[in-house]
Amino acid sequence: MLRDLLFEYIGHIFRNKVLGFVLLFTLSTYGCSRHESVRNESVVQDTLYHEQFRPQYHFTPREKWMNDPNGMVYFDGEYHLFYQHNPDSTVWGPMHWGHAVSKDLTHWEHLPIALYPDSIGFIFSGSAVADLNNSSGFGTKEEPPLVAIFTYRHRKRSTKGFESQAIAYSLDKGRTWIKYKDNPVLEDKKSLGFRDPKVFWHVGSKRWLMVISSEDRVRIYSSINLKEWVFESDFGDQIGAHGGVWECPDLFELQVEGTDISKWVMLVSVGKGGPNGGSATQYFIGDFNGSKFLTDQVTPKWMDYGRDNYAGVTWSGSPDGRKILLGWMSNWQYANMVPTHPWRSAMTIPCELTLIETNGEYQLVSRPVVELKSLRKQRNEIRPMSLSGYQEVEIKSRLDQSEYLFSFDFGQEEPEVLGLEWSNQLGDTLSVEYLSEGGYIGLRSSGPEIPLVKNFESIQRAPYQSKEKLKIHVLMDWSSIELFVDDGSLVMTSLAFPTVPYETLKIYSLKGETTLKEGIVWELKSIWE
Ligand code: FRU
Repeated sequence: MLRDLLFEYIGHIFRNKVLGFVLLFTLSTYGCSRHESVRNESVVQDTLYHEQFRPQYHFTPREKWMNDPNGMVYFDGEYHLFYQHNPDSTVWGPMHWGHAVSKDLTHWEHLPIALYPDSIGFIFSGSAVADLNNSSGFGTKEEPPLVAIFTYRHRKRSTKGFESQAIAYSLDKGRTWIKYKDNPVLEDKKSLGFRDPKVFWHVGSKRWLMVISSEDRVRIYSSINLKEWVFESDFGDQIGAHGGVWECPDLFELQVEGTDISKWVMLVSVGKGGPNGGSATQYFIGDFNGSKFLTDQVTPKWMDYGRDNYAGVTWSGSPDGRKILLGWMSNWQYANMVPTHPWRSAMTIPCELTLIETNGEYQLVSRPVVELKSLRKQRNEIRPMSLSGYQEVEIKSRLDQSEYLFSFDFGQEEPEVLGLEWSNQLGDTLSVEYLSEGGYIGLRSSGPEIPLVKNFESIQRAPYQSKEKLKIHVLMDWSSIELFVDDGSLVMTSLAFPTVPYETLKIYSLKGETTLKEGIVWELKSIWE
């Protein structure tokens, strides 16, 4: 709601002529202070990517606001990442598509803004595909176009039908984009929200399919040329979590590990009502007949139990068929208020998705891409030990830019609590705990308060069925933690804002003994140096 009001307000400002003069005046005075700003620029360059809380190996924009990942497509040796971007402010506002590319999913090169708002509207989330057969006619078979399919949020807002779908194409590897002259290509004058098209090539029916959110459901459309779209079916009525509006769907096929069975997975982000409050991403497993998604599942499964993994979708056309997901590492509850400057928001680490079967049920598994290993530098090994009470572990490299791999064996009697706790001299702490009594894994951080954010420090919980062993994999990057339990079968992603970096790590086993079988910690290289 607040977002919408802000939006209307900014739209109004830009149509206001008086403001035009103010802008002109500002631009002319800019000339006088150019020397000053050149000097400031070099100061900025020195501190850029070294600011307090700045992630060192997660993608962040150089400056200003970012939310959802958009248009993720692999083409000609490059992974493209577009993203929801407000280039004028560190809060959400008029949306553009920011742009970056990577050859290895770890190092990113920033590119100029790809799509700007225009007279129709602002550029909301969407996807991109490499149109290899030139079905759209925008390129040739020899030089196929990249086509972006995005939502216009209309400037002229009526009560319904203010979101429509449009396309743009690029003939130079995504460096410049031309909007299609007959945009929008798909409208629905009756719906209150109709956005975030994710398009993929469906091999079985040899056509393009689009999943798109529409208020409380996902709709599926088909097309032969990316310009004309035909309604196929919808999904979601009375199914899954509906604490908020449905957003950013994705639909893809995955093989169940160790079998030749494959199932279809529908991802749907939901604006409110996540397992630990606010926005989160649910998923459904089922079958897809080329037109309709079918599942017996009624209750949602959560892709990530932490508070900070939203609007995630997968890359189109990954070279080796991997399904790689990237999420926005924040939550609409407080995204506009987190204490970072001059940028706001980071992406999660790219994760490869697969399916496993446990107790006759299929489950989504998410693991950091193998490419991340190339960032490992100093390796610390913690000797195996039996744990009872608190044990500080000595690590000869930094703790806040590191990857952790621990594996524990429970003895005859399970401890009541098994945990890891990072802390600094100012008393900020971050802990990961397994609590046998409630049967859950918890994540808790304490540190400086975030204005207006309620419950930021409260414990985040994920249900966990104890086994004899527990494997914990953690990625820590200054102001975030990503926790992968038992090879990615449970994931929790969370922001944390320690005033100064954590310096101490303790492992603890309370009311029962545990064996630490393996403990390895790697400091990771910064991707910005
Ligand atoms: C999800 C979302 C999308 C929308 C975009 C606007 O976070 O609300 O539904 O397209 O953000 O920035």
